[in-house]
Amino acid sequence: MNKLWATGALCALTALATPAVAEQINIPALQAEGKTVIKTLAGELGAELKKAAKTSGLDGAIQVCNTKAMPITARISAAKGWTVSRTSLKLRNPDNAPDNWEKGVLELFAKQASAGANLQKMAFSQVVMNDEGDKVFRMMKAIPVGDNCLACHGSALQPAVASKLDMLYPNDHARGFNSGDLRGAFSLQKVL
Ligand code: HEC
Repeated sequence: MNKLWATGALCALTALATPAVAEQINIPALQAEGKTVIKTLAGELGAELKKAAKTSGLDGAIQVCNTKAMPITARISAAKGWTVSRTSLKLRNPDNAPDNWEKGVLELFAKQASAGANLQKMAFSQVVMNDEGDKVFRMMKAIPVGDNCLACHGSALQPAVASKLDMLYPNDHARGFNSGDLRGAFSLQKVL
């Protein structure tokens, strides 16, 4: 009886490890899908920023980041069946704080970045179990700082921008970046 049970358990373990089961989770397809979601999100955020900066200057653009980034992110998440967010170890909005898994990946990215790795290609994905016992595909992609970020994330902020940010984000840690620095990461997840 005991022996039978042990064999059964062993079979279950073996079945999990066979390539046939692994193939049911198509990691490269999930990674490609995730990248498309990130592209859409980055594109929309960039376009909104540009539009607002043109019509109402940096002040208006801050409002876009402040009020539109979250809804845009939520809409794209819902449309694609993914949960998408932006996070960082140097936060502006504490609502964007990383969870433990994200923090670990951000620390890995920071280590790779200080070793000179290419931020454009920096990504990490893993299948993990959530608290409900579901398998979840999680993925993060590094966000580099570009010249167009410095007006709000650099060191030499215009006084009007600085005071607006002071007002909205009294605990802002997302200043003082240089072009090419690691700003944070997109974080995606999909329940499998
Ligand atoms: C017009 C000002 C402005 C510009 C330009 C700007 N940001 Fe931001 N950024 C903000 C604000 C405001 C927030 C806080 C958004 C929120 O409340 O969720 C923010 C938040 C973020 C976050 C989320 C994590 C956090 O710290 O809360 C990331 C990542 C980020 N910005 C990256 C960038 C990158 C990369 C660029 C350049 C491509 C950029 N930003 C350009 C104002 C700006």
